[in-house]
Parts: sequence; structure tokens; C-alpha cells
Amino acid sequence: MNKLQTLPLPIKIFDEIDSTNLEARRIAEEGDFQEQILLARAQTGGRGRLGRSFFSPNGGLYLSFLLKPHMSPSDAIRLTTAAAVATAQAIDDLCGRESGIKWVNDIYLDGKKICGILTEARFDALAMQYAVVGIGVNIEAPENGFPADIADRAGALFPFGKAPHDAFEQLGYFIASEFLALYEKGLPMDEILPTYRRRSVVLGREIEVFRAVGGEGRRAIAESIDDLCRLLVRYEDGTCEALGTGEISIKL
Ligand code: BTN
Repeated sequence: MNKLQTLPLPIKIFDEIDSTNLEARRIAEEGDFQEQILLARAQTGGRGRLGRSFFSPNGGLYLSFLLKPHMSPSDAIRLTTAAAVATAQAIDDLCGRESGIKWVNDIYLDGKKICGILTEARFDALAMQYAVVGIGVNIEAPENGFPADIADRAGALFPFGKAPHDAFEQLGYFIASEFLALYEKGLPMDEILPTYRRRSVVLGREIEVFRAVGGEGRRAIAESIDDLCRLLVRYEDGTCEALGTGEISIKL
């Protein structure tokens, strides 16, 4: 039996789909649903944060957890944080190397973004109806390289043609088991946050803070990550700010 079928949640595997996050939302919006995992080898309409698209060719892993946790809107960040920690660990287990986390939810290897995470949720009267935690990993570099608009910052776990034959199944299994172990324990932040901070590639570094896509950046030093997973920054004029995850992006 395929290792993926031994996970504690049912799993659907697609060769290609528009977006595993969208498919999970469609299932949830139909009504009563089971918590489950959707996994694809390629996406034609991959979705990223802040309304961006997510380049999702063959050679990657595109996974969404469809969940119904009891959570307030302010707690939803725990899902993303746990997903980042679980995925970074899974990547290390597959590659035998140490990946880093760029606040809030990008995973880096050798200075390149190799994974992005997008959590979407529906709340009715502040009660969570469902959450979709979507994770996209570039396992193998595309044969003709990444598109020009991301070529300077995108990377992959392996060069083209060099990934182990079972990398997709292995990585899917590692990510899902690491994440579901944390989820079943109630997403304990006292366990998750120290690992998140230890893996951070931004702490102590100079960054640029962006409030709008394509907007002007503001230089700052990333000083710490607080218990709400906010990034505490000090700007050049000495003022400090705690950045929430919503509309902000940063550049190293
Ligand atoms: C980002 O880097 O902006 C977040 C990217 C999240 C991509 C994943 S791939 C699986 C899931 N399905 C999607 O359409 N998006 C997420």
C-alpha cells in the first residue's frame, strides 16, 4: 500500500488540478465534509498570498489540508505557523539539509524560496466553518528554469532530473505526518514557536516592509517574533512596530 494511504486522514491525489486550495473550498462549501488531504502533482491556477498566483508546474508538490478546527480568527495564524514548521522539518528529512523560514510562511533553502503556504478560512459570526492550509513545494527545478518574474528568488530542492523517484510521495507523507501530529496535539505554540524562531532567516537582519503589492518598501531591522507570531521590527528612525501577517510582506 502507498505510504500516503496510511495517513490518519483520507487523501485524494490528482495529476493536475486548478488549485488544491480551491478544490478544498469547493468541497467545504458543499456542506457536511470530512477533514481530508488533497495532493496534486501540478496546478493550473495555483493561488498565492496577497492575491498573487503560485507557479505550479509538474515537479512540485501541491497539498491542502481541509480542516474544521474550533478556532477564532486571531488563532488561525497557528495553522500557518505549524504548517511552516512541519514543512521545514519534512524538507530536511527528505534532503538531509537545513531549511529556513522567512516570516511569515515562506521556506528557504540556500537563499531561495522553495515553498509557500497559504491558509484560507471561512468564519460565520466569528466561528470557523473550515480552514484550508495549502502548501506548495518546488521539488525539482523546471527544465527551462523558473519564469523571469520569480527567477531571481525561486529555488527547488533538487536540480531538474535529480529528485529521487519517490520524492513526491515521501515529501507528502513527511509533511502530512509532521503537521497532523501537531494538529492532533492542539497546535501547541510553546512547542511550535521556538522551532519557528530557530529556523527564522529574518531575525537580526535588515529587511524591507511592504504594505501593498508593488508599493514602496520601508527599511527596518527584524528584531523578534512574539507569541502571536507578529514580527517586531525597528525602522531607521528608531520607531518600532509589531507586524501582523494580513497585508504585509517583507523582502530580505
Ligand atoms: C505564497 O507563497 O504566496 C503561498 C503559496 C501557496 C501555494 C499552495 S500550493 C497548494 C495550495 N493550492 C494553491 O492554490 N495554493 C496553495
